[in-house]
Amino acid sequence: MNLMPSRSDRQAESAPAARALQPMIEIDHVSQLFQTSARQDHLALSDVSLAIDDGAFVSILGPSGCGKSTLLYIVGGFVSPTRGTAKMQGQDIRGPGPDRGPVFQEFALFPWKTVLGNVMYGPRQQGIKAAEAEEQSRALIEMVGLKGFEDFYPKELSGGMKQRVALARTLAYRPAVLLMDEPFGALDAHTRTRLQNDLLTIWERDRKTVLFVTHSVDEAVFLSDKVVMMTRSPGRIKQIVDIDLPRPRRRTELLLDPRYQKYVVEIERMFEDSDDELRP
Ligand SMILES: Nc1ncnc2c1ncn2[C@@H]1O[C@H](COP(=O)(O)OP(=O)(O)OP(=O)(O)O)[C@@H](O)[C@H]1O
Ligand SMILES: [Mg+2]
Repeated sequence: MNLMPSRSDRQAESAPAARALQPMIEIDHVSQLFQTSARQDHLALSDVSLAIDDGAFVSILGPSGCGKSTLLYIVGGFVSPTRGTAKMQGQDIRGPGPDRGPVFQEFALFPWKTVLGNVMYGPRQQGIKAAEAEEQSRALIEMVGLKGFEDFYPKELSGGMKQRVALARTLAYRPAVLLMDEPFGALDAHTRTRLQNDLLTIWERDRKTVLFVTHSVDEAVFLSDKVVMMTRSPGRIKQIVDIDLPRPRRRTELLLDPRYQKYVVEIERMFEDSDDELRP
């Protein structure tokens, strides 16, 4: 098993033939300086470079306040970096777009719309006719396991169900990239496991590029092709670990797999051993 960190700039070093394979997302020497309301400068990200291939599932792990959400906001186009550049398919990211779908906890559903209404919103905004948008949305609702709840309102759903609706709503825009900021963080362990499995099933079918922020080492290893470990604030990339586990992955099988266990323990150790006593 190869636990060697892979360098984020590996693409740049590769052979000319491979250069044609442009990364889906390219974060190049990005730093983010915020000014707080007390007018103090706060360096949230420091010189972060990361290339994410089309169809890859990449997780970001790091201690609270290390800039994980900020990095996702930059890729989402909600924050423009103080230094460096963020590109999607070779183009500078200049703002939010339907090609990058956010699934953030704080992204509330429309409370006045039903589950179906929430999911249909994106396709309707994109000019898709009502009948077609409804058909697509019903299929997505079924895919996230909410068949039968189409006419429920958000307040009538559990936290896990709302998260499923949020995922279906984002998928309905057909984004090339899913940006997920601790989407399962607030859920109980059982619901979280089910949603992780469902997300992987959907991802294995669609192979969208996913950038996934989590505090959980085993969630990151279970889901990802690569785990990006960040340092304490100001966030830098500490190490990138390639997760070389076969797919499709099923949690119950992986838990028994010594290779999976080894990744989890190695990554936990990397946090423990670090000088700055990092904790994800
Ligand atoms: N708009 C802002 N203005 C000032 N400071 C900010 C702003 N947004 C974030 N920060 C600061 O930047 C740092 C990184 O914040 P960020 O939310 O990206 O961290 P995080 O890694 O997502 O943390 P958590 O794991 O707790 O969600 C924090 O110290 C935070 O206080
Ligand atoms: Mg955050």
